[in-house]
Amino acid sequence: MRYFIGIDVGTSGIKTIIIDEHGELIARVFKDIPLYTPHPNWAEQDPQDWWQATITTIREAISSANIDAASVAGIGLSGQMHSSVMLDENNEVLRPSILWCDTRTSEQCRWITETVGEENLVNWVSNPALEGFTAPKIIWVRDHEPEIYDKINHVVLPKDYIRYKMTDEYAMEVSDAAGTLLFDVQRRQWSHEMMDAIGLPKDVMPAVFESIDICGAITKSVAEVTGLKAGTPVVAGGADNTCGAVGTGIVRPGRALASLGTSGVVFAHMDEVHVDPDLRVHSFCHSIPHKWYLMGVVLFAGGSLQWLRNTVGEIEVSAAHMMDIDPYELMTRQASRAPIGSEGLVFLPYLMGERTPHKDANAKGAFIGLSARHDRTHLIRSVMEGITFAMRDSIEIMRDLGLSLSEIRATGGGARSDLWRQIQADIYGMEVVTVNAEEGPAFGAAILAAVGTGMFNQVEEATDEWVKIVTRTEPGAKASEQYDEYYQVFRDLYPVLKPGFDRLSGLVKKHT
Ligand code: XUL
Repeated sequence: MRYFIGIDVGTSGIKTIIIDEHGELIARVFKDIPLYTPHPNWAEQDPQDWWQATITTIREAISSANIDAASVAGIGLSGQMHSSVMLDENNEVLRPSILWCDTRTSEQCRWITETVGEENLVNWVSNPALEGFTAPKIIWVRDHEPEIYDKINHVVLPKDYIRYKMTDEYAMEVSDAAGTLLFDVQRRQWSHEMMDAIGLPKDVMPAVFESIDICGAITKSVAEVTGLKAGTPVVAGGADNTCGAVGTGIVRPGRALASLGTSGVVFAHMDEVHVDPDLRVHSFCHSIPHKWYLMGVVLFAGGSLQWLRNTVGEIEVSAAHMMDIDPYELMTRQASRAPIGSEGLVFLPYLMGERTPHKDANAKGAFIGLSARHDRTHLIRSVMEGITFAMRDSIEIMRDLGLSLSEIRATGGGARSDLWRQIQADIYGMEVVTVNAEEGPAFGAAILAAVGTGMFNQVEEATDEWVKIVTRTEPGAKASEQYDEYYQVFRDLYPVLKPGFDRLSGLVKKHT
């Protein structure tokens, strides 16, 4: 029997899984990673924490699977996108990684947009300069920590740092390179125009591969500490979003992924590259050769429901504790008692600002339409509905750009609840399905390892064999019609409220 390992360098922690040659899960080990927020808007992690946790999870996964390490045919890596790792000429990490969710770089984004121009951003890198992306982080270091900037010899992303530690090779692949703002997404190569325009030396970024290419092998010293066999091939792997998409079979046109975790992601496969001229959704490279995807990000999707649970959900939390069930189960039971549209209560989920479609760090959350009739059942349902309306915003832009979507594959917390799956189907006006794969990006990374090491010829072949639909939720015609009407109100609210959001942000800055 052959085995494949998938490792996901996530923001909450490192997950290592082992699957067998039938795609069955044999082992899963997860280890938390601390997140440091030394200033408001900052989010950092120590790459050494990732590496130590990677060693531990690999060792524990091999031991719990009880397999001979020589039968591991390949390893695939996946990881958080955009987060920067800067190394000096001795390959030492120069400073903590600045993460994708760190928003300190607004000034650098403004500078990049002014220096490069929006038209060149579209033509060269197909994406806007956003706080989360990698290039603004490098410019921030140039502006604020010049002594560190001067020592930068390599910039890589989290999973590529782990690859370097495992194989002694610096490499990146197209799906993560696409999120650096330094990559020509349409031609799948570094954009030298972009690097020249913002003054970054071209040699700091590593060679770029396709996700299924093998670009390294486990070194002898790493074999000793992990229990892996020296020489085991490591494929290039992919961004957490593309690996999540591969792991759920988003590998053909017409399919999109709606992932509802802390953030919400809508990810739609493309055979040909489309770029939004207004740059509201991202165009990035898929982990399948010559394929792309469009992505919209709702920054605080499941995060908004978690916020509601933490602030007003003590009753559900303590009742759930006594009943030994998940508090969200009680919350969604309550939500199911409120009618479609929550009797006119509309929630805007912009508690952390918003990326798609508004690109506005000042956007705020809001309940609009409160009346004395509303109780906690309406509050919970309207939060679930508002998050889903925000996801629909991305779907609408994708449709405007000519994508014809016919099936949504749901993952994350939003896929586990029957009610939320129904709300999604009704609001999207499309069938929502769930699949058997529950391991997220780590599973996609293991699939890339299986394809890259020859078990399958193509990613699509692997997912056809291993990823199966387990539930189907059809939209209700009447519910969809009603939601269409509420969605129009949701859409109209942000532009009306924006001046107030900006003024509130100004006041908070002034008074805190
Ligand atoms: C995508 C993004 C996040 C990270 C999370 O643009 O910023 O989804 O990839 O790890």
